[in-house]
Amino acid sequence: SLIKELFGLTQLEADLSAYLGIGRVVIVPGDADRSDWVKKEMGRAGARLLKQYAIPDQIVAVAGGSTILAVAESMMPTPAFKMTTFVPARGGVGEAVELEANYIASMMAKKTGGKYRLLHVPDQLSDESYQTLIREPNIQEVLESIRHARIVVHGVGDAKTMAIRRKSSRAVLEKLEESGAVGESFGYYFNRQGEIVYRVQTAGLQMKDLNRVEKIIAVAGGSSKAEAISAICSMLSQDTLITDEGAARAILKQV
Ligand code: G3H
Repeated sequence: SLIKELFGLTQLEADLSAYLGIGRVVIVPGDADRSDWVKKEMGRAGARLLKQYAIPDQIVAVAGGSTILAVAESMMPTPAFKMTTFVPARGGVGEAVELEANYIASMMAKKTGGKYRLLHVPDQLSDESYQTLIREPNIQEVLESIRHARIVVHGVGDAKTMAIRRKSSRAVLEKLEESGAVGESFGYYFNRQGEIVYRVQTAGLQMKDLNRVEKIIAVAGGSSKAEAISAICSMLSQDTLITDEGAARAILKQV
């Protein structure tokens, strides 16, 4: 668009797409670390793209966090969305309820007139309770729809920020630090090489399930997330990234 040309963002999108090896990169102006409207802009861009990608009878799995919440807030009804089922990518991962994937999936359905399913599997379970719970037929059914997601939409967090936000124990914080975790996405923590170094035990989408997903969309911005975005995008077969100028320039070291 003209706005993008004026800000020089079209070139930045091409550069970032080549650098990260991601098919489609959308960059909104500004830096989400500095101003709140930037996250809203990413949300709008995310909603627009989801609308473009949508087909009837699809399942869309969503992760948690404030950026994906911003996507949900910008969504509107379309014929394809009305025939879409929104599911949480994973069970609770220790977030405040309005940042949880369950809540965001239900909000997307409400905004679009689509359907949703919830996954009620808390994180802090003993192994035994967890194994019993995930054998429940109702839970199995939801897990099955998550595995059949056509689209996955997820945020990316800085590892330490996320661990603190989730009130993780000191032992977990230390483990993350020792293992060089830099980024986090749907309960998985990654090091700079994009290797998984820690995961929150909860049911739902597993890394291997992502191979079957048609479109993986990451929405994350703010210069403080540069390292996290690079790490995660290097390991996921990410095909779309929606970010902001702040993160893009920091990743490309154009600051
Ligand atoms: O997993 C990543 C986080 O959910 C991102 O959260 O969008 O609030 O920064 P955020």
